[in-house]
Amino acid sequence: MSIKTATLNGVATIEIARPEKKNALTVAMYQAMTDALRAAQDDPAVRAVLITGQPGIFTSGNDIEDFIARPPESGSNSANSPVFQFMQALASCEKPVIAAVTGAAIGIGTTLLLHCDLVYVSDEARLAMPFVSLGLVPEFAASLIVPRLMGHVKAAEKLLLGEPFTPQDAVDMHIANAVLPAGEVVSHARRMAERFNALPPGAVRDTKRLMKRASAAETVSTIAVEGEIFSSRLRSPEAMEAFQAFFQKRKPDFLQFS
Ligand code: COA
Repeated sequence: MSIKTATLNGVATIEIARPEKKNALTVAMYQAMTDALRAAQDDPAVRAVLITGQPGIFTSGNDIEDFIARPPESGSNSANSPVFQFMQALASCEKPVIAAVTGAAIGIGTTLLLHCDLVYVSDEARLAMPFVSLGLVPEFAASLIVPRLMGHVKAAEKLLLGEPFTPQDAVDMHIANAVLPAGEVVSHARRMAERFNALPPGAVRDTKRLMKRASAAETVSTIAVEGEIFSSRLRSPEAMEAFQAFFQKRKPDFLQFS
């Protein structure tokens, strides 16, 4: 199991722990994170959820081998796939979710931050949403939320060109709250999560729901629309070329496509 969970002092921690594959997320890991989010939601002792990774790596995003071997289904079955269940569980989590971005955050490693409430980033982290370079499209409502956060032209750099960005960029673009020295990011995020122990949980939940009310329906429908296109693109020749190039450690050749 590559997801470690523990609940301590009112904080349910979800730790991504597959450093040998740069914390790439498999179907089983999405399932484990969904179960952990649901358990945290149901446990009255939990006041906040903390999502964290390993030193130097938060997550390299979806496991590319899984993209090939176990792509999420499209059509009416897509809502049952583990990645969509995870997105639904995180986007609808009623309790505060805090992220400690311990290192590189790629693909869903960055887009999941758009659904957290407080985000702290290591000064050694790099963020990127290189969906297009993989022949894919953004997921987790990034195509809706990212342009809203930073405007169209900055979003185009991040989503069309897939340009990586620094922790300070993430703060400036309102994706993260603060940049912390690498050795302090988890303890700082945990301290912020523990602050919810001193607050009335009902008022916290109602306030989070109100903050998300205006965009909740759009977020859900965007995740569904993106998911349809994402699933069909996973099977496209462009994506196949990108995945093969990744494992063959070479540059992809997109000149062959029109
Ligand atoms: N899926 C599957 N395997 C992955 C992976 C992923 N998303 N990211 C890394 N790995 C594997 C590598 O294949 C390699 O495996 P190997 O040791 O069996 O060859 C191992 O993890 C180490 O990765 P490596 O690329 O050598 O590490 P690095 O430090 O040079 O680079 C990253 C780290 C995160 C920058 C780089 O691995 C990367 O770009 N990963 C892919 C990110 C991505 O495109 N994610 C999908 C977004 S939708």
